[in-house]
Amino acid sequence: MPKIRKLAPSILNSDLLRLGEQVKILERGGADWLHFDVMDGHFVPNLTFGPPVVAAIKGATQLPLDCHLMVNDPEKFVEDFARAGAFSITIHREATNDPAALARRIRALGCRAGISLRPATPMDALDACLSGFDMVLIMSVNPGFGGQKFIPESLDRARALRRKCDGLGLDIDIQMDGGIGLRNAAEVLASGANVLVVGTAIFKAEDPAMAAAQFKALF
Ligand code: DX5
Ligand code: ZN
Repeated sequence: MPKIRKLAPSILNSDLLRLGEQVKILERGGADWLHFDVMDGHFVPNLTFGPPVVAAIKGATQLPLDCHLMVNDPEKFVEDFARAGAFSITIHREATNDPAALARRIRALGCRAGISLRPATPMDALDACLSGFDMVLIMSVNPGFGGQKFIPESLDRARALRRKCDGLGLDIDIQMDGGIGLRNAAEVLASGANVLVVGTAIFKAEDPAMAAAQFKALF
């Protein structure tokens, strides 16, 4: 069953000094979600933002807020992100011993539950918990920074996952995050990923609204 395609710009590389305006620009460009790359400086060697930024943006847009928690002990944070207004909360398989229980908690908080893998983590690390999630985020760069080079093997991972979900009758979104541009977006979509996270290719473009619209024209 083909999944609806969605563009989720990552605000990691946006102009944080003018975040409110950037959000309006993304709305104009046709963004479907806003992606927040939350980093704790431990799970990944970078430190970004937390629930207060999500809450501030929640007041400025109707777009669903998609929070990607690249953090250790995600159990400690899911409630704060739900309270801040998250639509979806994605945790990392490598950061929790009980992903299924955490997915249940995230859903009980009224949010969609996502799970993500670093590129080096085998896909079968999801096997025991896949059915408890609404979305799988395949990292197509090593998490931590925007503007990195797309890892081509990510396409095979998406294809295999889409086959597995279809075989199991699981209606799961597959999201891909990192190194996606206008040149490779079509093959990312063809691999079975239906939610694209794009940061640099939108925010470093001459006209971010136009760039977002160009991605949407590929959907
Ligand atoms: C890495 C981040 C990036 C960001 C988007 O941890 O998650 O993948 O969202 O990256 P670019 O700028 O490559 O689109
Ligand atoms: Zn992300």
